[in-house]
Amino acid sequence: MALLPILRYPDPRLFTRAAPVVQVNDALRRLAADMAETMYAAPGIGLAATQVNVHKQLIVIDVSEDHSQLMTLINPELLDRGGQCESEEGCLSVPGVYEKVSRAERVRVRALDLEGRSFELDAEGLLAVCIQHEMDHLQGKVFVQYLSSLKQGRIRSKLAKQARITA
Ligand code: NI
Repeated sequence: MALLPILRYPDPRLFTRAAPVVQVNDALRRLAADMAETMYAAPGIGLAATQVNVHKQLIVIDVSEDHSQLMTLINPELLDRGGQCESEEGCLSVPGVYEKVSRAERVRVRALDLEGRSFELDAEGLLAVCIQHEMDHLQGKVFVQYLSSLKQGRIRSKLAKQARITA
């Protein structure tokens, strides 16, 4: 397994729409395993393939504290959503930035697993928020795009400064 480099906002490649996965094969399973390792090492609770510059509809999520609930969603589709909640979100592509975002409180999604089998999942709370955040990445959307343009500008200059310091 390998750690993958994570694209940082506002890298334009983060605004790419991911294509559906056509075949769930060993190469895709290897990518999913590398993404999970990268997510745990970061550490984070979700990672979309978009963030590692692979523009396929694949996300990994684990909202547990002990890394015991790894979920892989391939070609996820939102079937239903309900309620509304506001929570503070962060993103591995936007390091050090946490902002409140409003999302559906519950979602029902359909996806393929690592064997290519279709399944449905009902999620609420943190898991529901995380699924919506990662599905946004597959559409080329980063959570800061829900914020005011003033805030987005501040975040861009903060990250540009960080990049200069670490470069
Ligand atoms: Ni993110």
